[in-house]
Amino acid sequence: MDNLVSIQWLEETESTQDVLRNGIPSYDNLSVVAARLQTAGRGQRGNRWFSGKGENLTFSILLKFGNSGGFPSLPVSGQFSISEAISCGICDYLASKGIDSHIKWPNDIYVRNRKICGMLIENSLAGSNISSSVVGIGLNVNQRVFPPQLVNPTSMSLLTGNEYLLEEELIILTGFLFPGGILPDRRDDYLSRLYRIGEFHEYTDCSDGSVFEGKITGVTKDGLLQVENRKGELKEFAFKEINYII
Ligand code: BTN
Repeated sequence: MDNLVSIQWLEETESTQDVLRNGIPSYDNLSVVAARLQTAGRGQRGNRWFSGKGENLTFSILLKFGNSGGFPSLPVSGQFSISEAISCGICDYLASKGIDSHIKWPNDIYVRNRKICGMLIENSLAGSNISSSVVGIGLNVNQRVFPPQLVNPTSMSLLTGNEYLLEEELIILTGFLFPGGILPDRRDDYLSRLYRIGEFHEYTDCSDGSVFEGKITGVTKDGLLQVENRKGELKEFAFKEINYII
């Protein structure tokens, strides 16, 4: 598969997200910065991202749109297509390693009920368009023991029993993300890989803290999670408005 990215490895940095975000004009589209150790790795919801030194892939990719060079213009209303494309690309990569994964909305990658990969997408805007996006990916590769505060982690090694060379895997993985140098439309694949789609499970509605049984029925084009309750009522949730009870 084509690989059009250029990869820079750092021994140690606070966060690969910040390396790219602080240097957007000087990095080309599809630049990748990876680190063996992040001393202040950032996760979603203001959380830290913990990853054992040299054990996993922790890297960020810069995407440029429109006049900034790179991909065609992307309106803000289409920003969820980035989540869809990258999540599906990671699932494709894992499938190539014999690992069957699903996407926990909006962009965690799960194997059964355990998280193998997290993603942080930080966009810069120019008017009503996205000018650039820094996509940070933490994929658990060789780590087998995790800090107790992580609720349900897993890794490629735990699942397959194999050890992986991080540099090699990063080249292979990035080849799955932008086949032919385009940001592919993966909306249908995204929905078909959605964790818990069509099944009733428990969730917390963060607006009032109530726990309810709901069935995920889909995700809107702008990325809202659609959940039907036992009464057949459909409600749409934005990120941070619903918690999965796992
Ligand atoms: C999450 O699931 O909470 C998102 C985790 C994102 C972690 C990656 S690791 C590489 C990049 N640099 C960071 O500081 N965070 C992202």
